[in-house]
Amino acid sequence: MKGLQAALLGSTGAVGQRYVSMLSAHPSIRLEVLMGGRSAGERYGKAARWLQAGGVPDEAASKKVLTSDPRNAEGCDVVFSALPAEAAAALEPKFAKSGLCVISEASAHRMDRDVPLVIPEVNPGHLALLETQKKRRGWRGSLVATPNCTATGLAMVMKPLLDDFQLDRAVVTTMQAVSGAGFPGVPSLLITENVIPYIKNEEEKVAVESKKILGTLADGGVAGSNVEVAISCNRVPVIDGHLETFYGEFAREVEPDGVKDSLSAFRGLPQKLRLPSAPERPIIVRDEPDRPQPRLDRLSGSVAGMSVVVGRVRRGLGNNSVQLTLVSHNTIRGAAGTAILTAELMEKQGHLGR
Ligand SMILES: NC(=O)c1ccc[n+]([C@@H]2O[C@H](COP(=O)([O-])OP(=O)(O)OC[C@H]3O[C@@H](n4cnc5c(N)ncnc54)[C@H](OP(=O)(O)O)[C@@H]3O)[C@@H](O)[C@H]2O)c1
Repeated sequence: MKGLQAALLGSTGAVGQRYVSMLSAHPSIRLEVLMGGRSAGERYGKAARWLQAGGVPDEAASKKVLTSDPRNAEGCDVVFSALPAEAAAALEPKFAKSGLCVISEASAHRMDRDVPLVIPEVNPGHLALLETQKKRRGWRGSLVATPNCTATGLAMVMKPLLDDFQLDRAVVTTMQAVSGAGFPGVPSLLITENVIPYIKNEEEKVAVESKKILGTLADGGVAGSNVEVAISCNRVPVIDGHLETFYGEFAREVEPDGVKDSLSAFRGLPQKLRLPSAPERPIIVRDEPDRPQPRLDRLSGSVAGMSVVVGRVRRGLGNNSVQLTLVSHNTIRGAAGTAILTAELMEKQGHLGR
């Protein structure tokens, strides 16, 4: 990679901090501009209530948090956005219109017809929508979205199952980490020693986003996949790492061992291109009866936190179904990591640049 200059919207939040720490060690993306809301004007080291081990990286700590104005990102090759949905709805199009390439974590534009919703291993071809987007909107820049954190791990597992065994439908139950709700998130008196069986809008998002991610390009948009997902989302007292139990039904007979082989063998374009943030194995299958677990498995992979870990692969209710459990890191694979990998792919394909 030739090297990219990046700006970050929502830099002080839970996901913003993940970007700051991941990019501080990135070989070719340099985080030049940190932007915020209420914290604009302060030094990042003071403004960010740092949630990760190891402290704020020195270079970021001394930077001033700037207002979320496209002029502050002028000259950057890419703008990562970790804004809440409402702020993203208003701000991201302004950045794209001004000529900047935005990669967003927010739900605001994920389902827009001409916005690619990308997991680089699963649907890199959806980036072709950017041509239509530029023409339709008259933007000099562009807007790409990354999926909801729960949908990301799930779609990565569904992709080989669709391709290799014609997955028809899935029933999923999640146990989602508290960092998924940002900071300060869920009050400790609600979540300690408890499970909350409701996460606002989450089930709807995962069901529709999965269809779009796994769908195919058609008529300047995406024709959704036929796969149906029924999902129940729960918040649990875990800091990072979403665990999902998955029951899948297929159009034909499947063997659990065949499913394990298919998941283990799954590779995508980022692996072929050897992109810096691409894990060697996007899906790691474990055989122990009590894995995966969030605390033990969320940082798995040759790039920490970028692999989804699957275990407990077993037969379901008959020969056409399997059950399994997966864990994926919600702020790495489910957010900053996938967006950074998307930027690496876009750079390689000539979609980024000043
Ligand atoms: N947490 C996860 O696991 C996860 C995973 C995938 C996607 N997401 C999505 O990522 C986004 C960020 O989530 P988060 O958990 O990091 O949220 P968060 O902790 O609440 O952080 C929000 C950030 O946005 C900034 N901000 C808020 N309102 C703003 C405004 N009007 N103008 C400019 N900046 C504003 C805040 O800056 P100040 O502090 O300066 O106000 C802060 O930096 C959300 O859209 C979320 O749905 C989260």
